[in-house]
Amino acid sequence: MNFADKVALVTGGSQGIGRALVSALLSCGMKVNICDVDGKAAKEFIETLPSTLREYVTFQQCDVTSFEDFKDAFDKVISSCGRIDLVVNNAGLHDEINWRKVIDVNIVGVINGTKLGFEYMDVRKGAYGGDIVNMASVAGLSGNALHPVYSATKHAVVGFTKSYGSAYHLERTGVRVNAICPTLANTNLQKNIYSSSLDEGECSRQLANINILEPEDVAKALAQLLQDGKNGALLRVDPNGTSYV
Ligand SMILES: NC(=O)c1ccc[n+]([C@@H]2O[C@H](COP(=O)([O-])OP(=O)(O)OC[C@H]3O[C@@H](n4cnc5c(N)ncnc54)[C@H](O)[C@@H]3O)[C@@H](O)[C@H]2O)c1
Repeated sequence: MNFADKVALVTGGSQGIGRALVSALLSCGMKVNICDVDGKAAKEFIETLPSTLREYVTFQQCDVTSFEDFKDAFDKVISSCGRIDLVVNNAGLHDEINWRKVIDVNIVGVINGTKLGFEYMDVRKGAYGGDIVNMASVAGLSGNALHPVYSATKHAVVGFTKSYGSAYHLERTGVRVNAICPTLANTNLQKNIYSSSLDEGECSRQLANINILEPEDVAKALAQLLQDGKNGALLRVDPNGTSYV
């Protein structure tokens, strides 16, 4: 895959799955802008990158739940890079106890990023079209007794993606919208999932013997999704591979 001179904006790119997505996109020749609330983790991550890639990555402190904050991040990318070709709405939270913030980040954040993606990539506005990829989850494909709010937010991401990922929008704007639905992946979110579920003991029992993904597996799925050129598609990722659902 060759994305030389193309520009991506990745939310939640400071750690976890987002980090792996950023690394993969940089390796494909893209310039990547990380938008995240966690500047310390972003700095640590950028320092681990080879110097040949470091010059192609920038960080902006941005809370995706604030449209103004997020728009400011898009404006800065346009000023420095001149274009945006890919928006990955990856930032997300899991917390069944303090759940309002989860709704805000997982749903409002994705809606903000998608609306801004359309605004800045629309061919009718002189841009070049592009891709929006939303990070859903297998929790967005079926209900889950111990993670009802998280599951609801990911169902929202799935419905939203299928709605904007329609011929109606693509024909007018040149922008594709797809989503990735991973199973459990080895990140901080996953490490905290037990204590932030409705029942820590039962969650530990249910997840005791399952195979989990590495963030790099999700990054490979992103590359596949971009290569396949689909619209409104949901790409499921599990330890056995990927499948469109
Ligand atoms: N880890 C899993 O098991 C798993 C499985 C399926 C889907 N997902 C989804 O993948 C995405 C990434 O999850 P992860 O596991 O890498 O989590 P993570 O906690 O490791 O990383 C999430 C990142 O999002 C950032 N973030 C949180 N709130 C933000 C906000 N308001 N604005 C900007 N950035 C913000 C955090 O600072 C962090 O860098 C999430 O959408 C998550 O729901 C994760």
